[in-house]
Amino acid sequence: TASTFRAADTIVKKTERGNPKPDPNKLVFGATYSDHMLTIKHTNKAGWGKPVIEPLTDLKIHPGAKVLHYATELFEGMKAYRGDDGKIRLFRPDLNMKRMLSTAERSVLPTFDGNELLECIKKLVQVDAEWVPRSKSSTLYIRPTLIGTEPTLGVAAPSESLLFVVTGPVGPYFPTGFKPVSLLADTFHCRAFPGGMGAFKAGSNYGPTIYVNKLAQEQGCQQVLWLYGEKRYITEVGTMNVFMCIKNKKGGVELVTPPLNGLILPGVTRQSIIDLGRTWKDITVSERDITIDELLEAQQDNRLLEMFGAGTAAIVCPVERIVYEGKSYDLATMDKGAPITSRFHDEIVDIQFGRKPSKWTVDV
Ligand code: PLP
Ligand code: COI
Repeated sequence: TASTFRAADTIVKKTERGNPKPDPNKLVFGATYSDHMLTIKHTNKAGWGKPVIEPLTDLKIHPGAKVLHYATELFEGMKAYRGDDGKIRLFRPDLNMKRMLSTAERSVLPTFDGNELLECIKKLVQVDAEWVPRSKSSTLYIRPTLIGTEPTLGVAAPSESLLFVVTGPVGPYFPTGFKPVSLLADTFHCRAFPGGMGAFKAGSNYGPTIYVNKLAQEQGCQQVLWLYGEKRYITEVGTMNVFMCIKNKKGGVELVTPPLNGLILPGVTRQSIIDLGRTWKDITVSERDITIDELLEAQQDNRLLEMFGAGTAAIVCPVERIVYEGKSYDLATMDKGAPITSRFHDEIVDIQFGRKPSKWTVDV
């Protein structure tokens, strides 16, 4: 049985008539799909089959498929960027492959050679190259997904699975410049816990957050600030990692983000901000625990300079307000236009669009 598929075996069946491309100024995240998809089947008997690139179509799965009952599913989120030079690039896709494989292992879904999937994704993007926006800010979102399709209702590892990748153009998260968000620091619900799935990109982590996000919206906030435990450690913001720039008592600037302690998704954007920040002379980067009390103490002492979320979709997302225990706290993030947040944004975008050469980009 094949323990991995090979990109060299890919069967490509191109559509005869592609769909019309949407107006690049009217893209809603995840609502438009490119013409083709990649599918690869796995069975315990035969191992991995051949990758197939074919016109996007509905999946046919049995109503007993494990994914429909027990959320035997994982996904990834990455983008292809068309540079000013016309070249299409991926950004640190090796980190997505690594995270996909670690989630597959934790979910007892079949594993594979991540380099082979990366090569298949490059082929898929090449086939739909016309769908990668010619734009300074729009991109092609790529959604690799792995589901357990075996049609039996036992709670067990699936003996049949399907890996698929769909893509679609997405607009800039902030078409008219940074739009800061406010957060509800919820003291009851939690996104992740020790021994749980928080460090993995399993679909089952996301469904339960929708209710809590609704509570946040009812209180005039856009997203949830996820806290953990009696000490109320800050963990993540909505579906993003979180960063806080704090002036310490000696006057230096510390960029704090929670450590990868099992409660935090190892974000590609998070890692990139840490790596870039460590090359800057004017800040120190700390991966350390931080409680909501410490954050609000810094805010009250005027030492909290900026706070932002970080993820593939938005890159960075400034935070301007936190609601906690019925009180609203205005943060200084936007007072001077969020210079630290903006600098991370600009450095990352310059790399993604090929304006600054970097080992982090991979040509498609
Ligand atoms: N945290 C969560 C819970 C996420 O779903 C994501 C997703 O994209 C991130 C953080 C950011 O990760 P990345 O930078 O790899 O997109
Ligand atoms: C991100 O890219 O930052 C996300 O959180 C993606 C989300 C749709 C799961």
